[in-house]
Amino acid sequence: MAAHKVVCWDCGAEVDDPFVNTCPKCGGLLTVKMDLEKVKEMKPEDLRKAPIGVWRYAPFMPVDPAHKVSIQEGGTPLYSTQALGEAIGCKNTFVKFEGLNPTGSFKDRGMTMGVSHAKELGATVVGCASTGNTSASLAAYAAKAGMKCAVFLPSGKVAMGKLAQALFFGAKVLSIDGNFDDALALARKMADERKLYLLNSINPYRPEGQKSVLFEIIDQLCYDVPDRIILPVGNAANIWAVYKACMELKEVGWIDKVPMLTGIQAAGSAPVARAFAAKNKTFEPEPNPETVATAIRIGNPVSGRKALHAMYSTGGYCTTVTDEEIISAQLLLGRKEGVCVEPASAASVAGLRKLIETGVADKDERVVCICTGNGLKDPDTIINNCAPPIKCGNSVADVERILSQ
Ligand code: F0G
Repeated sequence: MAAHKVVCWDCGAEVDDPFVNTCPKCGGLLTVKMDLEKVKEMKPEDLRKAPIGVWRYAPFMPVDPAHKVSIQEGGTPLYSTQALGEAIGCKNTFVKFEGLNPTGSFKDRGMTMGVSHAKELGATVVGCASTGNTSASLAAYAAKAGMKCAVFLPSGKVAMGKLAQALFFGAKVLSIDGNFDDALALARKMADERKLYLLNSINPYRPEGQKSVLFEIIDQLCYDVPDRIILPVGNAANIWAVYKACMELKEVGWIDKVPMLTGIQAAGSAPVARAFAAKNKTFEPEPNPETVATAIRIGNPVSGRKALHAMYSTGGYCTTVTDEEIISAQLLLGRKEGVCVEPASAASVAGLRKLIETGVADKDERVVCICTGNGLKDPDTIINNCAPPIKCGNSVADVERILSQ
């Protein structure tokens, strides 16, 4: 474990109590400050001796691998997606496919770190609010760790695959009358009263594991840093985690350039994008978020201010895409590259297409779109947007007639 401390991102105060999730002095957001002095003596190649995955980057992580709760997360493919790139007018396009993590989303990267830290602290009950993926992931890691788990879900708005996973792994699945923001408020109350250890991304250990996606991308590109990285933004922690990882690689001298971090929100759920358009450092919550991309249907993103900082300070960008643009990008990725992502994940590809069309991004940029979750998480949306199976008679002639159409 690398030496570290938890500090307030707003006022800088050190925070010793591992069970609080906001600054006891000013109420600000917490973050982990890593001591990277030892890493400065290492080279990137030194890490390659460890197996691929989140824990390869243990020298950048605040949890002792001795307490590791792992299902072999990370180590996902980085596809060079030329056909997709040609279709959207940006030929140097890559897709980092996070849907191939153990529970099918990037959340596993943060959850291996968060649950390992919970084990380190001796926690026995863990919980989170979720639009689906966080709950699926926490349920799996809690099962692996032998911990009791409660997940707080907005009723009726969680994709089928995600709900099935949380039930399957044996979590107490609580259907909350309200949206994600309401569910999170209740989960936080439970944590404040110390009834559970909270593993939403407001817990600063979660983004620490999520940093690994950036370490991997840079490693997979042999330290040839891309010009831009595009991510969907919901509760806004992942883009912050990627930013933090960039800053740490720069601090240890392994990179000297930082990609333009670009966040994409769904048009009906876009408090961060609106703030960015107004050049604000803070955002106004959206009271009634709505989008087909239920994973990012969030009106009051906990890490929204951190996300804005990440985008402003890397020369990045933030914009919105409509549900139609999301579905169209999801299908394009499937039909051009054979990659099936969920709607929220397709927002990054839809976003790149929009950036090229509007001239914000240059067609010669090297761009990585992070596709955060597997398409099988949300089969209903796929079935609703694809032509139905074709009724076919039982003869070769019947099949031939259909194939010739
Ligand atoms: N993509 C997917 C597939 C997600 O599940 C989420 C967030 C995001 C993108 C956005 O990431 O919140 O760090 O900006 N899902 C959370 C959940 C909220 O509960 O599963 P973010």
